[in-house]
Amino acid sequence: EIKGTMYEAIGGPKTVNCLVEAFYKRVAKHPDLIPIFPTDLTETIRKQEQFLTQFFGGPTYYTEEHGHPMLRARHLPFEITPTRKDAWLACMKEALEETCIEEPYRSAIYQRLSQTAHHMMNTPEDGK
Ligand code: HEM
Repeated sequence: EIKGTMYEAIGGPKTVNCLVEAFYKRVAKHPDLIPIFPTDLTETIRKQEQFLTQFFGGPTYYTEEHGHPMLRARHLPFEITPTRKDAWLACMKEALEETCIEEPYRSAIYQRLSQTAHHMMNTPEDGK
């Protein structure tokens, strides 16, 4: 029997903070992602930490501050093409590896985030 949440299993706030920092460090340098993200990622990082904390089964800080996530709706202002979805997931895959989140959690997290990322696409590829 597995007890506790994924959040606790991976190491709680410290691990989520490392993951989010490792992720946006890559986003900030990724040519496909730079055009749609703000230059100052401070607030983006803060919100993503809140969101992933609750996504992994921890405290619901995101919803307490911002209401229902409605992630697809919140992403509609940004053109999310298949290329950008792949770029987002590539940054996340490397961040999960850098953060040393061990199996089976690493694959489980990546799989859930892949599904969510797929759901976030809202724009076909340019010129196709
Ligand atoms: C916000 C891009 C997938 C969670 C944002 C923002 C952009 C973005 C440009 C706005 C940043 C800002 O203004 O601060 C993308 C792209 C994705 C993607 C290109 C590729 C599929 C995801 C996924 C998740 C997610 C899979 C969930 C795990 C969030 C959250 C916010 C956000 C929580 C903050 C929303 C808010 O303003 O409250 N994303 N995103 N995104 N994204 Fe994504």
